[in-house]
Amino acid sequence: MTISQSENHIPFLRKSGGAWELIVDNKPYLILGAELHNSSMSSARHMESIWGKLRAMNINTVLGNVTWEDIEREEGVFDFTELDKILVAARSAGLRMILLWFGSFKNGSSTYVPGWVKTNTSHFPRMRIRGENGILKLSDNISIFHSECVMADTKAFTELQRHLANIDHERTVLMIQVQNEVGLLGDSRDRSPHADKLFNSAVPNHLVEFLSSNLNVLHSDAQEKLGRFRDAVLLYQTTEQHSWEDWFGSSVYTDELFMAYHYAIYVESIAAAGKEAYNIPLFTNAWLPKPAVGGGLGNLIAAGGSLPGSYPSGGPISNVIDIWHWLTPSLDFVAPDIYAADYTATCQTYKRGGRPLFVPEQRRDAPGARWLWEAIGSHQALGACPFGIDSLEPESFAYTAQYKLLDSLKALILRSRQESKRTFGFYFDELEGGQADESPPISLSKSSIFSYLEHLFSEDLIQAVAWLLRSMLGGDGFKVEFKSRSATSAFTGILRAEEKSVQDPVTGDLRTERILNGDETRSGKWVNMPSENPDYGDGFIPLLTPAGTRIVEVQVYSIDE
Ligand code: DGJ
Repeated sequence: MTISQSENHIPFLRKSGGAWELIVDNKPYLILGAELHNSSMSSARHMESIWGKLRAMNINTVLGNVTWEDIEREEGVFDFTELDKILVAARSAGLRMILLWFGSFKNGSSTYVPGWVKTNTSHFPRMRIRGENGILKLSDNISIFHSECVMADTKAFTELQRHLANIDHERTVLMIQVQNEVGLLGDSRDRSPHADKLFNSAVPNHLVEFLSSNLNVLHSDAQEKLGRFRDAVLLYQTTEQHSWEDWFGSSVYTDELFMAYHYAIYVESIAAAGKEAYNIPLFTNAWLPKPAVGGGLGNLIAAGGSLPGSYPSGGPISNVIDIWHWLTPSLDFVAPDIYAADYTATCQTYKRGGRPLFVPEQRRDAPGARWLWEAIGSHQALGACPFGIDSLEPESFAYTAQYKLLDSLKALILRSRQESKRTFGFYFDELEGGQADESPPISLSKSSIFSYLEHLFSEDLIQAVAWLLRSMLGGDGFKVEFKSRSATSAFTGILRAEEKSVQDPVTGDLRTERILNGDETRSGKWVNMPSENPDYGDGFIPLLTPAGTRIVEVQVYSIDE
């Protein structure tokens, strides 16, 4: 029986005012998260030295992996000792956790399966890929086409979920990622005899039906790959039995579709059983392809690759995301790991169909910290988390200051989502010392008033990050000008600008620190949000003093004639 989530304070997702909220302790929660390196969570002792600095980085949620090899070293014998110690330590550090289940697959390989799975290839067969000269070789992936593998993983994941349901009464764990960046690396599909047989058999009828009835609404990347299918649906009845190549043609994208169909079913079986055991939000993540540069070369370790197989073939990327969504009802969403891909387009892809956006991994440097504002401000993300947090220090971590500001604004942000108020997150690229600012201004239309956001000059590097809620501004390194859209407007100006600080972090209530006018608004022309303190701007007269709190509320007026 499913336990009621709100009664038991189990975290859950709910849509409110058109945006998704993660509900924790029965209240909306904004994830200010970061992901640990892969081996950190294997030892509670190793983690002891890390908790304190995570707090100093203004992080509230830590993403860390629980691995199949750690919890079931011996078949059927489960050991959660390290995990339990880690959860206690996280709790006493005041941190929440998102656990990443490194089960059958991690970065397109099976390196985290227990030794008894790795070595017993007759019981847990592996996929086969083309090696040099087309000769088949064993891959590092257990087979998604054999029930033994999925059953063993399902059993282990269900044990983990049951364990969390039993011990995590304080709900330290907020969500679970099921597997990590699934897909086959090294080839576009499994070429084992068993997989070949399936590939040469009839495409499951429900897939043909799904694709033909959704052909014009699938992601544009999928539509682009389905040219042959468009012709085939004119030739065949959807109920006819034809092989994968008959329906879709011979292409690495047909292979990818075949793999995606089977990977999604594999992950869904595990997620469904795990959800039944503990009804907490579940998701899986994607290794994204890198836009093609000089052929299909990829980095077979961590990110990139432009063709299926140089990125994990069958993982939940844009070519097949609709199939993943359709076949994985037990996952609350699918999430992108964003390092090199177009940030805006990726966020839009993963929000398809009004789904929640969460970025479990992204760049941990200054550009990544700027993306954060777009994710939270413009895409209503649950969070956007840098990877590899524990090898940084609070002073050198680009998100430390951003998380501090977001922490003070979070109640306001969450409330604005509930009230369907428009928020907008943006950033400008970083300028090297002396480099001219070539970034075009951003224009925002707010009912009758236009706002113009521009890089604000600075002597040194500029960190232009911001968030705009109605007339509330947060961030630094930019200026905002306003102009009425009315044809009869003869003048637009700033009526009042107030530097604000958060008085009550729980309600988000603000109080006024200073009234900004004169130099601080360039005599009513724009709102300054300098990035340095002091910021002397473009001359020797100190015209710019920063909004020390990095929060300003502004009212604008227009005179019509
Ligand atoms: C993506 C993976 O999901 C992470 O676990 C980690 O291996 C990073 N790549 C490393 O860049």
